[in-house]
Amino acid sequence: MGILESVAAQGSPSTLRPEAEDLAAVRAATLALVGHLERSDLERVLDPLMSPLVWDLAHIAAYEDLWIAHRVGGLELLHPELAAMYDAFETPREVRGEIPLLDLDGAHEYLADVRERSNAVLDGALSDRDLDLDLVELVLRHELQHTETMRQAMSLGGLLPESDPPSRRLSTTERWLSFPAGATTIGAGPDGFAYDNERPRHDRTLDAFQIARRPVTNATWLRFAEGGGYVRREWWSDEGWAWKEEYDIGRDPRVAAAPAEAPVCHVSWFEADAFARSCGARLPTEFEWERASTSGQLDGTGHVWEWTSSPFAAYPGFTAYPYPEYSEVFFGPDYRVLRGGCWATHSRVASPTFRNWDLPQRRQIFSGLRLARSSPEET
Ligand code: AVJ
Ligand code: FE
Repeated sequence: MGILESVAAQGSPSTLRPEAEDLAAVRAATLALVGHLERSDLERVLDPLMSPLVWDLAHIAAYEDLWIAHRVGGLELLHPELAAMYDAFETPREVRGEIPLLDLDGAHEYLADVRERSNAVLDGALSDRDLDLDLVELVLRHELQHTETMRQAMSLGGLLPESDPPSRRLSTTERWLSFPAGATTIGAGPDGFAYDNERPRHDRTLDAFQIARRPVTNATWLRFAEGGGYVRREWWSDEGWAWKEEYDIGRDPRVAAAPAEAPVCHVSWFEADAFARSCGARLPTEFEWERASTSGQLDGTGHVWEWTSSPFAAYPGFTAYPYPEYSEVFFGPDYRVLRGGCWATHSRVASPTFRNWDLPQRRQIFSGLRLARSSPEET
């Protein structure tokens, strides 16, 4: 008798455990997101920077099978032959449009078959091991993060529903918030789920700083763009200027089309850095951002990811969990940290200690910025 037949023989559970119910709710949202799309739009590359959406779907299934059925439940992988194709490292984005991926029906079937095994594991029917619920939470948040990635692809392909993004007008005016020099606690505590890169919690000593109460708006960005923002060499870093010249970068068309009082979105780190310099300011470090965020005084968080000046680096005493390819392989000078979350980020993901990261030239993400400066004397 096969594993699933033996489960069936024991009768299916009448109620799901809470973790299984949460997984089911996330899945319903994932399927609803793509439910209105044409099969052809799901199966093609919408933008060279992004995977076909059908890759994300099958990748979500492969990740779930690896971490719940295989690692938590101790089962063999359901489709070992697909594991490499849907591993983010073994099959990098550039080739995902060129290989024979599962079609939409195949991806749906993979998702459903994996979920059946996950529910059986969660139900305790397949194994008497103690369930590692942190790994279940990892899987759930993984799917949530991929629905944001899928929205990025849909945005680039002109396929977001009319209601996205939701109204993003800021209600407050511009103002500086001041923080005195001193120690602040950074990162996630030892209890409950957090990503490896948020730990361990530790103290940092910060110099006095100021941070803007609200993110930079489209109206303010327009003044930068029209006031020589993409022309004035002195506002740009060497690296940023080289990138801008090579790819003939100007204002993203989506910025020009957006409401004036909404936070600017789809700006790269290079542009954000230049913009800040044009204001006689700078980007906040991720620690300044976290300090200000936990004070509860920041307005307008959660509209756009906010670029920080910080490279994505390990906190002192970091240990990779549950695998080095989650965070550790990205540590170093190449990636910059974004904080806060955007309209497409689920609240379960966007905690004040959550660290997102991307390359400084990227603007497919829903990214904006908030200014900071080191002291009131700076102009
Ligand atoms: C945290 C958004 C940078 O998309 O590369 C998804 C999240 N990790 N699958 C990414 C992630 C593995 C990650 N980011
Ligand atoms: Fe992933």
